[in-house]
Amino acid sequence: MKEESIQQERIPRRILPGGDAVPAIGLGTFGSDKYGPEEVARAVYGGIRQGYRLIDCAAVYQNEAQVGEALEHALEEGLAKREELFLISKVWNDRHGEGEVLASCRQSLKDLRQDYLDLYLVHWPFPNYHAPGCSGDARNPDSRPFRVQEFMKVWAQCEELAGAGLARYIGMSNMTIPKLEAVLPLCRIKPAFLEMELHPSFQQPELFQYALDHGIQPIGYCPIGSPSRPERDRDAGDVADTELPEIAEIARAHGIHPALVCLKWAVQRGQIPIPFSVKEPQYRSNLQAVTEDPLSEAEMESIRRADRNCRLVKGQVFLWPHAGSWEDLWDPDGSISC
Ligand SMILES: NC(=O)c1ccc[n+]([C@@H]2O[C@H](COP(=O)([O-])OP(=O)(O)OC[C@H]3O[C@@H](n4cnc5c(N)ncnc54)[C@H](OP(=O)(O)O)[C@@H]3O)[C@@H](O)[C@H]2O)c1
Repeated sequence: MKEESIQQERIPRRILPGGDAVPAIGLGTFGSDKYGPEEVARAVYGGIRQGYRLIDCAAVYQNEAQVGEALEHALEEGLAKREELFLISKVWNDRHGEGEVLASCRQSLKDLRQDYLDLYLVHWPFPNYHAPGCSGDARNPDSRPFRVQEFMKVWAQCEELAGAGLARYIGMSNMTIPKLEAVLPLCRIKPAFLEMELHPSFQQPELFQYALDHGIQPIGYCPIGSPSRPERDRDAGDVADTELPEIAEIARAHGIHPALVCLKWAVQRGQIPIPFSVKEPQYRSNLQAVTEDPLSEAEMESIRRADRNCRLVKGQVFLWPHAGSWEDLWDPDGSISC
């Protein structure tokens, strides 16, 4: 027998500065080179049936056409109304040129079978790209450091597509405070969302607070610590969030999987986590977890202290030829690395 879907009234919301209410948790769709487009699309359909309303897509995940089919079925069957969904897509790094951002957005709309997106993000703040599925030491000789004027040309196209009604909100991803400091004063339309890596072992407290202080809602990717991430994003020193002693202890106390502790923490802290799973029991329990049995203040504080500053998506494949280590992508000295 099919389980009842999780009631919408029970799912927490984040209220944006303009008053709009957005689901406080969503479903990721990056198959991590491990799960094919059909599997991911089935999870999107199943996720909507279970009660997910926010779906994080991207052109580079190479599954928007299949996800679009799943969305169409879900809408046709009345599992949700379009205005209840919050659909996200992103422009990939090889589509930053003049006119390309708009073209990429239109392609995502076509693939996703939608008239508009709720949020369109600049996936990475530079035009450096790697071939899908490449190895961790792959480098693109055309890669170059972040340049404010170049980025603003991309952003201006986002502003244009928002003005044309192709996306209700526009936002950025994989930014740093120095980059935001440089670009925010130049934005005609400020970013409403910032998608960033956020999990217990990588909390980015300064950037997180910076976003909140500027009225920008953080969306947290890899919320469970991305245990199925591609080889290129694995490093011997990486920490597994679900094995952190602080997380394991809280999981034992609540009698739940450590992954669910990560998600409860994320929602209670105030980011929108977008956990990925193609397995129905997992994605259902991920959504269910944030509707019940909250963490105590002491547990929240214990997780706050568990931060290990362990970035998983280091982005080394985007490094430019004369760059030093992957850390250069993240402006460790407080100024934009060049
Ligand atoms: N903006 C960006 O640059 C960016 C970068 C990365 C990701 N993202 C987005 O963020 C989403 C989430 O990140 P992610 O997929 O890398 O990592 P994640 O959500 O932290 O981890 C996903 C993995 O966690 C496991 N999992 C999920 N629910 C579980 C549960 N209840 N119990 C036990 N294990 C569970 C599954 O592993 P198994 O497969 O082994 O079951 C799943 O593949 C992506 O799908 C994508 O939409 C955005």
